[in-house]
Amino acid sequence: MDLERQYVLQNYARYPLVIARGKGCHVYDLEGRRYLDFITGIGVNALGHAHPRIVKVLREQAGLLIHSSNLYYHQYQGPLAKRLAEMSGLSRTFFANTGTEAVEGALKMAKAHGRAIHAEKYELVSLDNSFHGRALGALSVTGQAKYRQDFEPLVPGVKFVAPNDEAGLEAAFSERTAGMVMEMIQGEGGICPLTPSFAGKARDLATRYDALLIADETQCGVGRPGTYFAYQRSSPVILPDVMVAAKPVACGLPLGFIVANEKAAAAIKPGMHGSTFGGGALACRVALEFLDILDELLPAIQRVGGYFHVTLNELARKHGFVKEVRGFGLMLGMELTVPGKQIVLDAVAEGLLINCTHDTVLRFLPPYIATEKEVDQAVRILGKLFAKM
Ligand SMILES: Cc1ncc(COP(=O)(O)O)c(C=O)c1O
Repeated sequence: MDLERQYVLQNYARYPLVIARGKGCHVYDLEGRRYLDFITGIGVNALGHAHPRIVKVLREQAGLLIHSSNLYYHQYQGPLAKRLAEMSGLSRTFFANTGTEAVEGALKMAKAHGRAIHAEKYELVSLDNSFHGRALGALSVTGQAKYRQDFEPLVPGVKFVAPNDEAGLEAAFSERTAGMVMEMIQGEGGICPLTPSFAGKARDLATRYDALLIADETQCGVGRPGTYFAYQRSSPVILPDVMVAAKPVACGLPLGFIVANEKAAAAIKPGMHGSTFGGGALACRVALEFLDILDELLPAIQRVGGYFHVTLNELARKHGFVKEVRGFGLMLGMELTVPGKQIVLDAVAEGLLINCTHDTVLRFLPPYIATEKEVDQAVRILGKLFAKM
């Protein structure tokens, strides 16, 4: 911790905890103290820690081939892209490393798509309260002043609309719109789902104005909402033109991706985009194993997520300072009328890892392997902390 303070850029506000190892739903500090991990590296460690099937594949592949660049083929990109196409209902994948990098690529896709139609078709629509990453393009479509203000001016031509404001959305679209980006469930913004009606309107407007609808599933996707992707929750499915995701897909190895339909994919021609590390053999092989395991876990995500939602609601009813419980599957938030930071610190001391977003929203992103037993354990700790308030 001392060396971090002395030598590492001081951009993070870390909790006073050094994590040494993890197993299943728990992590352990240097003294061997155990913590129930209900934040999973912000939604990354979806299979918990040291999952035997992931460890086996990692060991095997690390001894064969870790990286070969995109100058050549390896055995795993093609099968993984096929798998993602089947899961998403979209067609072609670009492999990146992070959510931000995937968002950047999707924005370039929208810009190139617009520009091929006419030079003035470069505008992007995004939502207030959104979060899409911290690179300059992703920041330009992030609808929260606190992340943007030190770096302005950003990419021009972005219009922000309040989530679920259908009239505002209609007014923001025009023939100049190249694309719209949205999170079906806003994550950093405080676990705020879009209404199916608003998402459907976004789909209709994007189609009417020949703009690309981009679903940012970095936090709300890849199994977490109880479906493969959050846009698949509504019936009929609101299919975007482009989807980006990252976090859990390679169980802690950096891997992000864009999946696009043929129309959107056609905007990117050879040489227009790339990534040295994107889609390496090790990350892709782990992702294939992860997706096999995910198929087995989806029913449990729905069941345990539903149980967690109900028990959080029961807790909420007992405490006047809880405003609302929101979310789907294993992506849940509890909005308070008071700041959540101290609760998060006290939870660490009690052996529970969660975090707080948007100042007043306790955020829960448990591993997909969590059961009712771990939920009970987490809610018991929260109940104890709430009783003291
Ligand atoms: C919706 C969304 N988009 C993009 C990002 C950025 O992803 P990364 O930190 O992997 O670059 C995040 C990160 O939390 C996110 O929640």
